Amino acid sequence: MAKENKNYLSGKEIRAIAKANAKEMKRLEAYKNRKAEEHEFLSQMKSSENILEIEDLHTFFYTEQGVVKAVNGVSYDVPKNAVVGVVGESGCGKSVTSMSVMRLIQGPTGQIVDGSIRFKAYDYKRDEKGNPIPNGADGYEMEEKVYDIAKMPIHEIHRIRGKQIAMIFQEPMTSLNPVFTIGEQLDEVTFIHTPGATKEMAKAKSEEMLRLVGIIPENVYGAFPHELSGGMRQRVMIAMALAAEPRLIIADEPTTALDVTIQAQILDLLQDIKNKIDGSILLITHDLGVIAEMADYVVVMYAGKVIEKGTVYEIFQDPKHPYTIGLQKSKPTMSLDDGTELYNIPGNVPNPINMPDHCYFKERCAKCTLKCSGDYPGMVQVSPTHFVACHLYDGVEDNG
Ligand SMILES: Nc1ncnc2c1ncn2[C@@H]1O[C@H](COP(=O)(O)OP(=O)(O)O)[C@@H](O)[C@H]1O
Ligand code: SF4
Ligand SMILES: [Mg+2]
Repeated sequence: MAKENKNYLSGKEIRAIAKANAKEMKRLEAYKNRKAEEHEFLSQMKSSENILEIEDLHTFFYTEQGVVKAVNGVSYDVPKNAVVGVVGESGCGKSVTSMSVMRLIQGPTGQIVDGSIRFKAYDYKRDEKGNPIPNGADGYEMEEKVYDIAKMPIHEIHRIRGKQIAMIFQEPMTSLNPVFTIGEQLDEVTFIHTPGATKEMAKAKSEEMLRLVGIIPENVYGAFPHELSGGMRQRVMIAMALAAEPRLIIADEPTTALDVTIQAQILDLLQDIKNKIDGSILLITHDLGVIAEMADYVVVMYAGKVIEKGTVYEIFQDPKHPYTIGLQKSKPTMSLDDGTELYNIPGNVPNPINMPDHCYFKERCAKCTLKCSGDYPGMVQVSPTHFVACHLYDGVEDNG
């Protein structure tokens, strides 16, 4: 019978979903496009050691089938001068989290619904009217301040996007404009982010950035994107990200589209750059090998939630969550080239529209107990830096 099929929606149900969606989308779009004074989106960091603190982030998609809770209460921090790796199966919400940080979630369907994204910015000091204050020389007075990106009106996001936080995407060809030369696109970054920059200044900066990513500027500055190999294009994207001197670089599967030797070169480059710039990297990947090589801290996501986080040593030497343990066991199967089934843990992620109330991993978990049919497990702290959401550790508190 159709009614027993959970995937079947009646006309009445479809209309009810559409009505509820329309109401929420309208409310959230109005919030996103509101006018707000700076103090309304200023915040405080929980720890002065962090550059980014994501707390209880909820990012949903209002689809015709229902609400997809792509990011459903995610919290993690990015400390200063650290590499944080986010890992998890395809579709678990890694990219939606990072796109939320950049405020690139496409409305009205996609919306940040709740939570905070605190970012320590170095930005213009502003007067009561919100205008930058000249410093008497050629520039403006600057100060450190914490923005809650989730609460920023969308038209204020230029304060940080591309400038304080830069993003490197998986497929560089789609991020580069095919009709402009590499030099023109690189210069543009300087023009946007450095008021009063001249053509000569921009070109000098572009060439410096190209050298930094291992490219001889003379060969590439005047070239068009299609004239470069995939690896070269990714280097250019990294140069573009660096040109704005960001405090945080988000690299979302930066090596996935490249072949193995080039992958290794790009990872070496990122590692090298991390040591040269005074910034942090948020590295998103489904590849545990990349994380092991690059990250200081690891966040493991599953079905829109963080299920474990800790230092790279804790996650690799002492994984706690059955999913994290499974990921590591299944590592040799990761070389499949279609990218769809990366990990060999039996079973599937639950339907994101109808998430159960209990642990989302239960149907795939070999360790599950009676307790696992109850409430969704809370985060348990097992060391000062190690957290896990699994009932096996309830009552196991940090003693050190
Ligand atoms: N525009 C969209 N509309 C509906 N669902 C989306 C959209 N974008 C992403 N999702 C859903 O959000 C979830 C998380 O996606 P994503 O963050 O891209 O995963 P990944 O961890 O592979 O980066 C997936 O279930 C995906 O289907
Ligand atoms: S809470 Fe239970 S079902 Fe979930 S991962 Fe832990 S043991 Fe497995
Ligand atoms: Mg992704």
